[in-house]
Formats: sequence, C-alpha cells, structure tokens
Amino acid sequence: DTPELIDRFGRVAHDLRVSITSTCSLRCTYCMPEQGLPEIARDDLLTADEIGRVVGIAVRELGVREVRFTGGEPLMRADLADIIAASRAAATGADFSITTNGIGLDRRLPALLAAGLDRVNISLDTVNPEHFAKLTRRDRLESVLAGIRAAKNAGISPLKLNAVMMRETLGDAPQLLAWALENGAQLRYIEQMPLDADHNWARNHMVTAAELIAVLSEHYELTPVGRPDDPSSPAEEWLVDGGPATLGIIASVTRTFCESCDRTRLTAEGTVRSCLFGDDETDLRGLLRAGGTDDELADAWRAAMWNKQAGHGISLPEFAPPVRSMGAIGG
Ligand code: GTP
Ligand code: 5AD
Ligand code: SF4
Repeated sequence: DTPELIDRFGRVAHDLRVSITSTCSLRCTYCMPEQGLPEIARDDLLTADEIGRVVGIAVRELGVREVRFTGGEPLMRADLADIIAASRAAATGADFSITTNGIGLDRRLPALLAAGLDRVNISLDTVNPEHFAKLTRRDRLESVLAGIRAAKNAGISPLKLNAVMMRETLGDAPQLLAWALENGAQLRYIEQMPLDADHNWARNHMVTAAELIAVLSEHYELTPVGRPDDPSSPAEEWLVDGGPATLGIIASVTRTFCESCDRTRLTAEGTVRSCLFGDDETDLRGLLRAGGTDDELADAWRAAMWNKQAGHGISLPEFAPPVRSMGAIGG
C-alpha cells in the first residue's frame, strides 16, 4: 500500500527537497538580507537521525525517488555527511544530491561522497570577481571556483551550475557560459523570483529568459530542445553551437512549470511545505518527537500534500510573496 504523495490537481511528488539550515557563507542580494537570517535554535533543527528517519519514510512509503539537501547553505552544517549517511541507510535506492554555493566543498567532498552523495548543483552567477563580490556581498569567488573544480575532478556528472539572472550581471553571461563550457559543467540560468528577504524584486526590473537569450545569442548559436530528459524538470534546454553542450533555462516567472511540479519540501525545523510560495506548513517534528509511527508521519505528509496550492501566481495583481525568504526555504 504505497499511495503516493498526490495533490488535488493530480500532481505526484517524486522529488524531496530538504532544507537543513538557514545560515549561509554568502549574502546574495536576491536571497538573504545583509545581516543574514536569524539562526534556528539548535533544539528546533531536525538532527541527522531525524532527517534520516523522515527521508526513509518519504522514499519507502511515499514514492519519493530524488532527495536534495539545501539550506541556506547545506555545507554550513558540520554533520552534513552524517545527514547523508543516515538518509542513505534509510533509503538505499534514492538519488541524493545537494545544492550548494561551493564554498569549502573541495575540503568536504570526499566525506560526502563516502556517505553516499550522488550529485552536486553549484550556484555561480558570474566569474567577474568584482561583480561576484557585489552580488553575494562576500569576496569568495576563488573558493567557489575551487569547489567546482573539486566536484569535476571527483567525477561528479552531470555537474550543474545555477546562475540567477540579474541585471547587474547580465553582461557577464557570455563569459560565464564560456567558463562553464571550458570546465565541463552544465550552466542553467534561473529567472529571479520574488523570494529575496529584502523584498526588492520587481517584475519590471527582473531579467527575463527572452532577454538573456538575446544577450547570449550575440556570441552563441542557441537551439531550443525543450525538456528532453524529464518533463517535470524545471529547466528547458538549448543546444549551444549545435551541441553536444547545452544551456538550461529555468524560467520560473515567464514560463511557469507549476502544473508539472513534482516537488515536496521539508524545512530545517521539520515542517512539510509543498510549494515554494505557499505559507501553509505541516509540522512533522512534533509528531516525530512524540513517538509517532512511520504510518502516522506518512499520513500527515499525504494530508499536507493534498492541499498543495495550484501555483505561485507571481504575475497576478494580488500576488504576495511568502513570509519565508529563499534562504529559509532552500530553492
Ligand atoms: P536537478 O534534479 O539537478 O535538475 O535539480 P533542480 O533543478 O530540481 O534543483 P536546484 O536546487 O538546482 O534548483 C534550481 C532552481 O530551480 C532553484 O534554485 C529554484 O530557483 C528553481 N526551483 C526548484 N524547485 C522549484 C519549484 O518548486 N518551483 C519553482 N518556481 N522553482 C523551483
Ligand atoms: N530566485 C531564483 N533563484 C534563487 N535562488 C536563491 N534565491 C533565488 C531567487 N530569488 C537560487 C540560488 C541557488 C538555489 C538554491 O536557489 O541561486 O541556485
Ligand atoms: Fe546563500 Fe544560496 Fe542564499 Fe546565496 S542564494 S545567500 S548562496 S543560500
């Protein structure tokens, strides 16, 4: 009896994103406030064993196949390898990945791989050092590049780089694509969503996928190929100069993909959050710590999923951003 995580609109979640901290080593303007987010009290954070228990239930009982650890910055947790190992032990067959800013990854990667990590997505918005420092409010570009090289040298494949489209770095896009091609990484550009803690996002200021394509097309020949691997993937792919290299575009705002969303989320405090944008959350931690059974936890999760909202509605006049900013949801 494995009724999957299904919602009122018939969408089924196979992809679990687990945020494990709200802290970060960078302060990207489209995500974090200058001073960072308040740290979550230690007792409120799920422990590595608790995360493993919940991930095990998601995979064994609820049909989840892919598990991604995010933050904030997942490397900020010293016990990330323990979290992966506990999850891997409880859910042998799933695909385990992290989305990271790459800082310190070179040092941490061997232990993470030994714990059972399969894949890594690394965020990199520009390879111009001054622009990087301005956008992330930290002068750490070299450390990020070292993390990317370490992942490449460890044989991680595919190695995806995420870049948020920002007006300040739009002119750097051809250089970033060239860098990704040279270093054997798959670049994916993401439209900026209204998830910044400072609430500075504006529809008429954001860079659209169409605008990015126009800038890149001055240097590269781009041919659209849709979503070849996985219809629920957020990224549409483009062949670069006839291929085989590709560029991914995640046009969350101008070409919404909510209707095929297959994600469910667990926050660092142990609540289930079905949508990036919905403020509805269902607490699992209380149930877990009160001795709840696997079946009880699975039932609570199914009920939470059923009520998932239809989509983000960013383009609607009545749109209001969620209370949590990106750093506390994890992308
Ligand atoms: P892969 O399995 O490697 O393709 O990973 P992914 O693209 O699912 O994960 P990643 O963490 O790299 O996410 C890339 C970006 O996609 C995120 O930073 C978000 O901007 C966006 N994204 C991910 N999930 C959602 C979602 O549920 N809704 C929306 N609107 N955007 C999302
Ligand atoms: N819009 C789109 N993507 C964002 N990210 C962080 N904030 C935003 C935003 N406002 C991305 C990061 C990283 C992933 C976890 O989320 O660049 O790749
Ligand atoms: Fe940190 Fe990622 Fe947010 Fe940048 S986008 S501040 S790297 S959590």
